[in-house]
Amino acid sequence: MSILQPQIVSLLNAQVAREQNSFQQYKAAGMWARRAGYHYAYKYLHGEAKDELHHRNRILAYLNDFGEQAILPSTPPPMMQYGSLSDCFAAMLDLEVDNTRALTEIIIAARDSGDELTVRFMHKYMKWQRQAYDELLEIRQLFVEFGSDAATLIDIDERIGKV
Ligand SMILES: [Fe+2]
Repeated sequence: MSILQPQIVSLLNAQVAREQNSFQQYKAAGMWARRAGYHYAYKYLHGEAKDELHHRNRILAYLNDFGEQAILPSTPPPMMQYGSLSDCFAAMLDLEVDNTRALTEIIIAARDSGDELTVRFMHKYMKWQRQAYDELLEIRQLFVEFGSDAATLIDIDERIGKV
């Protein structure tokens, strides 16, 4: 008999796809930042991409551990070009907002069905979400404070390295 309920398995598989999509978005954004000459933004985005893969792999392992069918998804091609550094980070913030909503839905569904294991498993994800969200808000604030002409963008890039 399976420990996880089918509805939870399907929500977790949807989250696998979301984490993989996040990986691709961050990775492509990082590559764009590198081409555009934003060294620290590149490093930041590259690091986030790595984290997203870790998030994906943990859910795959969780499903595998319970003998469930984990699905390796195909995800849509990521955005490869951004109009500006602030557009790029605004897109990442949108991504994290969507992710936080999705994770909240999983926790609510797990709690409603008495699946305390999944509730606990997901708590770490909420902690990571909060951290990513806070960092992206801090970066957004840099654009608000320093504006976005060419000289300040280099300065902002350096400050992103310290977030
Ligand atoms: Fe994630």
